[in-house]
Amino acid sequence: EIGRRRRLLDAHKIAEEFFAEKLKDPEAAPARAFLAGRGFDGQAARDFGCGYAPQGWDALLKHLTSKGFTREELLEGGLVSQGQRGVYDRFRGRLIWPIRDLTGATIGFGARKLYEDDQGPKYLNTPETPLYKKSQVLYGVDTAKKAISQRREIVVVEGYTDVMAARLAGIETAVATCGTAFGADHIKVARRLMRDDGPGGSVIFTFDGDEAGQRAALRAFEEDQKFVAQTYVVVEPNGMDPCDVRLTRGDQAVRDLIASKRPLFEFAIRSQIARFDVSTAEGRVGALRAAAEIVSQIRDSTLRPEYARQLSQWLGMDLGTVEQAVGSAG
Ligand code: GTP
Ligand code: MN
Ligand code: MN
Ligand code: MN
Ligand code: MN
Repeated sequence: EIGRRRRLLDAHKIAEEFFAEKLKDPEAAPARAFLAGRGFDGQAARDFGCGYAPQGWDALLKHLTSKGFTREELLEGGLVSQGQRGVYDRFRGRLIWPIRDLTGATIGFGARKLYEDDQGPKYLNTPETPLYKKSQVLYGVDTAKKAISQRREIVVVEGYTDVMAARLAGIETAVATCGTAFGADHIKVARRLMRDDGPGGSVIFTFDGDEAGQRAALRAFEEDQKFVAQTYVVVEPNGMDPCDVRLTRGDQAVRDLIASKRPLFEFAIRSQIARFDVSTAEGRVGALRAAAEIVSQIRDSTLRPEYARQLSQWLGMDLGTVEQAVGSAG
């Protein structure tokens, strides 16, 4: 078992070096252009181990089999896929980010498409393997863990480019989930790193404001109750992500964005209110019902009346009416 795991880790290490080398090839010009277009220079690409998976079907397969790895091992590691006529490279014609575990060992890859005629998804990740469990993986955790522990803060951004941009802007605690929502297993990892066994820590989610981001915010809201840490949300009003913000407005704007964090409950309540036209009585009542539903879910019995008071101010309604709505919600 340990021997098999070691073999898969070795295969990933060699694959990572192979991809990094291929990023220098003429064929990789679109990958280099993508990085440059997102504001990442060669040094940044090297720091994050970026690479390029060549087009064609067997570049990595040939390289790794020449190093003594079997097709079975490469399949088990998710580096190749099984087709009708044999195995072929999983990642083809894509920009590659190595995904590492807490110890810094590469356990999988994230890969963005670069060619218009590529039929596949925009991002393709390693599938579930003995090394790669997507429900637990946090991209960038190996290089962020020290800062996360020291500051007892974790900043969760949406993608690989956002982690790179946030780090370059000085947000040392930025990590991202890989093609999946932040869930219970990620929370366990975050809590362990933050030593989340008493008050003082913070978890900051950034969302780019699109619908997927909104859904993620609400899921995070449900997960929130497991944290001792304070949970915050950052929403960029123009729907930009940290990578876009850094590109258009620079490093300081990224730091300002993260600093503009608001408590998750406040965000969730305001999102409900925003669905209604509060200039009408009907709209205000609708908003009250929807927002009271959120307030009623706040377990902390000191915090709940605090938010009821806030809600009465936001809606311009008297506290008694709000308290009644909260009491009959849920
Ligand atoms: P770019 O900045 O152009 O790459 O896209 P974006 O900012 O619109 O990325 P988006 O916010 O859509 O995606 C952020 C993260 O979500 C990515 O880094 C991926 O981890 C994940 N993701 C996005 N699209 C896909 C997809 O098609 N499949 C999978 N598995 N994950 C995706
Ligand atoms: Mn998007
Ligand atoms: Mn998005
Ligand atoms: Mn983006
Ligand atoms: Mn995005």
